[in-house]
Amino acid sequence: MQAPIVTIRALHEHVDQEVTIQGWCYAKTGKGKLVFLQVRDGTGVCQAVVFRGNVAEEDFDIAKAVTQESSLIVRGIVKADPRAPGIPGGYEIDVRGLEALGISDPYPIQPKEHGVEFLMQNRHLWLRSSRQWAVMRVRATIVRSIRDWLDNHGFLNVDTPIITPAAAEGTTTLFEIDYHGEPAYLAQTGQLYNEANIFAFGKVYCFGPTFRAEKSKTRRHLQEFWMVEPEIAFCDLDQLMEIEEQFVSYIVQRCLTECAPELKVLERDTTALQRVIAPFPRIHYDDAVEMINAAAARGELVPGYPDPVPAIEWGDDFGSPHETYIAAQFDKPVFVHHYPTQVKAFYMEPEANRPEVCRSVDLLAPEGYGEITGGSERMSDASKLLAAIERHHLPLEPYQWYVDLRRYGSVVHSGFGLGVERTVAWICGLDHVRETIAFPRMLTTMRP
Ligand code: 4AD
Ligand code: MG
Repeated sequence: MQAPIVTIRALHEHVDQEVTIQGWCYAKTGKGKLVFLQVRDGTGVCQAVVFRGNVAEEDFDIAKAVTQESSLIVRGIVKADPRAPGIPGGYEIDVRGLEALGISDPYPIQPKEHGVEFLMQNRHLWLRSSRQWAVMRVRATIVRSIRDWLDNHGFLNVDTPIITPAAAEGTTTLFEIDYHGEPAYLAQTGQLYNEANIFAFGKVYCFGPTFRAEKSKTRRHLQEFWMVEPEIAFCDLDQLMEIEEQFVSYIVQRCLTECAPELKVLERDTTALQRVIAPFPRIHYDDAVEMINAAAARGELVPGYPDPVPAIEWGDDFGSPHETYIAAQFDKPVFVHHYPTQVKAFYMEPEANRPEVCRSVDLLAPEGYGEITGGSERMSDASKLLAAIERHHLPLEPYQWYVDLRRYGSVVHSGFGLGVERTVAWICGLDHVRETIAFPRMLTTMRP
């Protein structure tokens, strides 16, 4: 076979030329002298039409013998046809030669409805299905746009350790490991180290897996998830929100431009995503509580939930129905700022004249996707920070270096973390984060 090897995504560049594609049989139909193979190659899916009169007799036999998921090398002429099925579609291969490398055993995943539990047990195979394929490609685009935006806006990527001696986001979700006889924990965040790094580099980000032993099973929580965490020196809460809205708008708009075929596979209605352009609305926690309680008093329903909006006490953290209700009042993602100090992490700067609230901000995504970023202005005074560490009953020794940062040229600084899986779920329109990462780690399963 001499025709050049090309990808299905690039077929449009080779119309009426003879090419070779390497892939797997996704589905097959046919009758008499024709076999229609749906071939996928990782970049897309296209139809390969095998007409008995156009190929050697052995090749036609191969076409007839091919089973779903058999690996193939297909040579043929690219035809443009707007009706041709596939992803992105519009091109098909008029086959001239066919080779089967591995004939697949009967494949357990059929084009019928399977239960999620079965699909999750077969995650190593399920990833080949077009919806899962589309999600992973959107995820990769999100990751690429995260890095591009930060790299192009003066942020230096400085990665932070995964093995850490101390908690940073509460002591109840730590995964403990044995560090040569000393207890250590898998990182819940890289933030504290980011804070050291800004004093060397000004604007930094870390981007990696983070670990939380979340005891509850929800649609939004994984045990292992990826978080990008930008941290900025000389930056207050308002400036932080400006950075976040530019950053998130860029990610969403870039997915809309680059992932149109994938979003189509996912049947994502992109109307709400098109509106995700900075600036975003900002509301104070106090006002959010008032909106929630007014809706609760009216018996208003939470979109997508069977129950009315639950009332909330000032000082409590929001539950998912609260976040969904608040987000539904706006047509873009919404910032909720100044949460009660008591529900947030120890390092957040309290408001100067009102220490019961802190200079924190969460970004709530529309359509019920909840919190996708969490961030704050950090405490920049050593003695205040020491008092907070004590108040949270944290051991001082592993945080000594962190307090130290406030002794050598302390500045106002802020940062946030964006959860990749929740962002993928939102942009793809998925109702559970388990499909947003290739091999999810959940409360009850870590296989395959
Ligand atoms: O709000 P969180 O806990 O913030 C932090 O970890 C800060 N240290 C970030 C910072 O300021 N540098 O987490 C940030 C984001 C959440 O908004 C959410 O998107 C995601 O991380 N997240 C999770 N995603 C999946 N599964 C979990 N268990 C998650 N916990 C948080
Ligand atoms: Mg949070």
